[in-house]
This record gives sequence, structure tokens and C-alpha cells, in this order.
Amino acid sequence: MSGRPSGPFRLGDRVQLTGPKGRLHTITLREGGEMHTHHGVLRHADLVGLPDGSVVTGSGGHEYLALRPLLRDFVMSMPRGAAIVYPKDAAQIVAEADVFPGAVVVEAGVGSGALSLWLLRAIGPQGRLVSFERREDFAEVARANVETFVGDTPKNWEVVVGDLATALPETLPAASVDRVVLDMLAPWECIDVVADALTPGGVVLCYVATATQLSRVAEYLRGTGLFTDPEGSETMVRGWHVEGLAVRPDHRMIAHTGFLIWARRLAPGAVAPEQKRRASKSSYSDEDVELWTPGAVGDREITDKNLRKRVREARRAADAAIEAQRREGASDASA
Ligand SMILES: C[S@@+](CC[C@H](N)C(=O)[O-])C[C@H]1O[C@@H](n2cnc3c(N)ncnc32)[C@H](O)[C@@H]1O
Repeated sequence: MSGRPSGPFRLGDRVQLTGPKGRLHTITLREGGEMHTHHGVLRHADLVGLPDGSVVTGSGGHEYLALRPLLRDFVMSMPRGAAIVYPKDAAQIVAEADVFPGAVVVEAGVGSGALSLWLLRAIGPQGRLVSFERREDFAEVARANVETFVGDTPKNWEVVVGDLATALPETLPAASVDRVVLDMLAPWECIDVVADALTPGGVVLCYVATATQLSRVAEYLRGTGLFTDPEGSETMVRGWHVEGLAVRPDHRMIAHTGFLIWARRLAPGAVAPEQKRRASKSSYSDEDVELWTPGAVGDREITDKNLRKRVREARRAADAAIEAQRREGASDASA
């Protein structure tokens, strides 16, 4: 998958134009095509043959910087059927799920195809991506988006319309998949089939929007006894304004998108050695109560002597405040 051809602009290329005041226009170069704005007309033919990163001038004298969109630009502006995985999370998914060139990867649901594009890029032409989506209309949006960016349907990509829980065992043999990435409302409903499909040592990673989903999928993974202890994370990226002496964090950021949780498939019959962990947090125990004592959260325990001193200090401060209040009341009365 090239996805981002290099060399001079050609007919059929998508080009991102940054115009006056930083306004963005994305066009696809067509024979005889024109872009009309209230600043005049820009002929597509004027761009064909120019190198990426050129500046062109429209009929009204306005200049436009012309660049092929990067994948992150494309996914943020492409049509969406369902909410997409943002670039910051896609990058972490590729890293934490260890998606490698040549990997056999399963993804569900495909939604708008944003994550599919990142996964296709990470596996390269030697890899294979099988994306499951239970809604045909969303699958259609995803196919169109991937084709628009790649310029073709990648030969190593298959979209299967159906519920992962039933379609995965019908599509791929057991223990044949290197990585599984789930972006859906109820990933725990699919963990059993994912465990069967994954090769020993393979990674399952779930992207979920809420803390309750995060907890439920973690406990489900643990409960199977088929995976390593799950790890979770959240990625917050804060942009910076860097200009002259004005170097500071941006005022706005995309705060919450989702959480990642991932684990590795154990070999058949393997039982992970007991981890020295604190008791399950599904209910409170004496141990949990102990966790919130000052010592456990890092505060030094106060000695009885110190505590008596603090009580005296507090009492003195309170007496002084009461006395001040009383004097103020007395002077008001005599005035
Ligand atoms: C948030 S979207 C996925 C977005 C996608 N990762 C992207 O970056 O564009 C979630 C999708 O999962 C699909 N879905 C939910 N449960 C599913 C299941 N069990 N099997 C297949 N698809 C499922 C939904 O129809 C929806 O399209």
C-alpha cells in the first residue's frame, strides 16, 4: 500500500490547499477541474506536474500551499459512519499491540476504516488484515475511505460483514492470528472467539470509551485464565504553541477519547504464575480500607505527641479568632 505517492502531482491525487488565513481545502485533481472560492478560481491543471509542497496562485492573486494530505490529515477529514480512532490512539495501538510488518491482524468493528488504514500501513504488503463489521453500511463507508486513501482496494485486506463472535471462527482457523484489535461497545462478548483465533503469545487489544467498559473487559480477560494479566492506558497529547518567545501549551486539546487495554494469549494449558497482587477490587476488604490510610498513600503517620501539638495549635488559632470576633463586636457596640 503506497497511500501517499511521492513525486509531482498527478491527476487523481488528493491535494490539501492552505489558502489565505490558513483555510484548508482538499481537492482531488481532475482533468479540466477547477476550485472556486470567493477569492477566484484555481485550475487543477496548474497543480499537475508540480512537486509536493509547491505554492500556486489562483485567478484572484491569492496564494495556496499545496501538499498531499498525510494519513492523519486524511482520517480526520474523511466521511464517518461511526466515531473513528484518533491518530494519537492509533499510534499507541500499533505500539502496544505490537503490530508488525507481515502480521496477520484481525480488527472489529471496522466503523469508518480509520484504524484499518493505520493497521494496513503497519503490517505492510506482506501482512494480512481481516476487518469484521456487523453493519453493511459502515463497512461500505470504510471500504470507500480506504480506497480513497490508497487509490485501490488493498489485496491484503478483507472486510467481513457479520458479528465477530460468529464470523471469526468461520473465517480464520484457530491459533492463526497474531494480533486482534477490538473497537466496539462490548468487546467482552468476543473474547472467547478471540482467544481461540490467537496464536500463543499473540496480543489482544481493546479500545473502549468508558472506565466501566475498561473494568469489564479487564475482568473478563482475567476470568478466562487464557491471557496474561491485562495492562491499561490512556493517551493524552497536549499540543504546544511554539513561536518566538511565546512558547506554551495550547489552550485547547482533545482530552478524552478512549482507553486501551491489552493482554497476551497464553500457550494452551499454560497457567500464568500467580502474581503478587492485592486482593480483587470487586469488593472492599479490610485490606482496601488499609490502602487508604495515610501511610499507604505516602503520608507519614503522625505520632500521638505531634497530634496533641497540632490540636493545641488548632485550638489556639480558633480561640484567637473567637476573641478577635468578640472584640470587634464590643467596639461596634461602644461606637
Ligand atoms: C467505533 S466504531 C469503530 C471505528 C473504527 N475503529 C475506526 O477507526 O473507524 C465501532 C464499530 O463496531 C461495530 N461492531 C460492534 N460490535 C461488533 C461486533 N460484535 N462485531 C462486528 N462489529 C461490531 C459497530 O457496528 C461499529 O461500526
